[in-house]
Amino acid sequence: MTNTDYAGITRNQQETWTTGDFNEIARQNVGMAEALCEAVDPHPGQQVLDVACGSGTAALVAERRYCEVTGIDYVTTLIERAEARAQANGQAIDFRVGDVQDMPFPDDSFDVVLSVYGVQFAPDQEQAARELLRVCNPGGKIGLAGPIPTGWSGDWFATHARYVPPPPGVESPLRWGTEEGLDVLLGHGTRSMQSDRRTARQYYRSIDHAVTVFSTYFGPTIRAIELIDPEAQENLLADLRTIMDRYNRATDGTAIVENQYLQTVAITA
Ligand SMILES: C[S@@+](CC[C@H](N)C(=O)[O-])C[C@H]1O[C@@H](n2cnc3c(N)ncnc32)[C@H](O)[C@@H]1O
Repeated sequence: MTNTDYAGITRNQQETWTTGDFNEIARQNVGMAEALCEAVDPHPGQQVLDVACGSGTAALVAERRYCEVTGIDYVTTLIERAEARAQANGQAIDFRVGDVQDMPFPDDSFDVVLSVYGVQFAPDQEQAARELLRVCNPGGKIGLAGPIPTGWSGDWFATHARYVPPPPGVESPLRWGTEEGLDVLLGHGTRSMQSDRRTARQYYRSIDHAVTVFSTYFGPTIRAIELIDPEAQENLLADLRTIMDRYNRATDGTAIVENQYLQTVAITA
C-alpha cells in the first residue's frame, strides 16, 4: 500500500502540461514516432491506440497505414489540436480526453498500443502499466519510445529536478527507460520484450532558440521557472543552455541536438 496522493499529483501535472503548448515541441518527436511504427509495424485495419498522444504525433503516423487509430491525452487543448491536424490532413482518428491511468476503453480493445514520451509521465506507474496491458489484446504489441537516465534526456530531467524536486513517493519517468524498470512494470503481462537504444535529433535555429522553445512552450520548464526565484531562473536557463550545447552536433551556429532514448516493443501474454 502507498500513501502517495496520485490523484493530486496527476491534477498538478495536468495543469503543468496544459501550460505552454507541447505541439510546438512535438515536431521533435515525429522521427521517434516514425521509427516506433516501423518497429511495431501495425498493419492496415488494426486497432491502434496512441497513449498520452499530445497533439497526435504517433496517431497521425499510424493512421497513414490505414490503421483504425485512437489517441488519448488529458490536455484538452492538445486533443483539440490533434483533431484539427487530423482534419486538415483528411485523417479520421478518434481522439479522447482522458487519463492514461484510467482509460475509458474496454479490455482487449487494441491490437497495438503506442506511447512516445507519454505514459512514462504518469505518477502511478504500476497502474499506467496495468492499463497498457489491459487495453491491449493478448498477443498484441506495446511500443514505447521514452527517455533514459543518461544523455540529453537524463541531463534534462536531472536539471529540472535540481530546481524543482519531484513529488515524494513518485518514481522517476526514467524508470521506463531501463530494462529493469520495464521488466517490473510490464514483464508480468508480456511474453517478449525487446528494447533498443536509439538516437533522435532535435533541430533548432540556434542554442538560444532551443532554450527559448522550451522556456516558451514546454509545460514542465515553464512551471519550474514560475516556481523559483529570479536568480534561480537565470541559473536554470543557463544550465539548460549548457545541456543543449553538450549534445549539439551542428558546427554552423544552428543546433542539432542528439537525444538518446529507449525504444521498446513488447508482445502481450
Ligand atoms: C512529452 S509530451 C508527448 C506527447 C506526444 N506523445 C508526442 O510525442 O508528441 C507528454 C504528453 O503526456 C501527456 N500526459 C502526461 N501524463 C498523462 C496522463 N496521466 N494522462 C494522459 N496524458 C498524460 C501530456 O499531456 C503530454 O501531452
